[in-house]
Amino acid sequence: MAPTTNVLPGHGFVFLFIPITAIDNTTSAQNLGLFSRVVDGNPTNRVFAVELNVFRNEEFRDINANHVGIDVNSLTFVNSSEAGYHVCGLHCFYSDIDSESQDLELEL
Ligand SMILES: *[C@@H]1O[C@H](CO)[C@@H](O)[C@H](O)[C@H]1NC(C)=O
Ligand SMILES: *[C@@H]1O[C@H](CO)[C@@H](O)[C@H](O)[C@H]1NC(C)=O
Repeated sequence: MAPTTNVLPGHGFVFLFIPITAIDNTTSAQNLGLFSRVVDGNPTNRVFAVELNVFRNEEFRDINANHVGIDVNSLTFVNSSEAGYHVCGLHCFYSDIDSESQDLELEL
């Protein structure tokens, strides 16, 4: 995601929760390193992931080129939102989510 000259950047990263140590058929340079086309959408993946993504891939119905997505077994989101954050004090409460979202540019 960092703008480095002469280096092909990644499109983002994912936090993933999986019951195994690795996902087959994936590479670091494609699809956020998460799923290959071979296994994307397969219910046996048993993967929950949160993606931070700066590329709009229509194949996965990405909403825009600056989004956070919730993925279950597929790079096609279960839910997705423009990247942003909410300002709150020392202790955040669920009600703070009603405060206006601040824009967050994921790509520097
Ligand atoms: C997927 O990965 C498995 C295990 O590494 C390998 O045996 C298989 O050939 C791969 N399949 C494809 C379609 O790349
Ligand atoms: C995400 O979920 C919220 C709450 O249910 C909904 O309003 C919103 O439309 C969903 N966004 C997408 C991209 O599906």
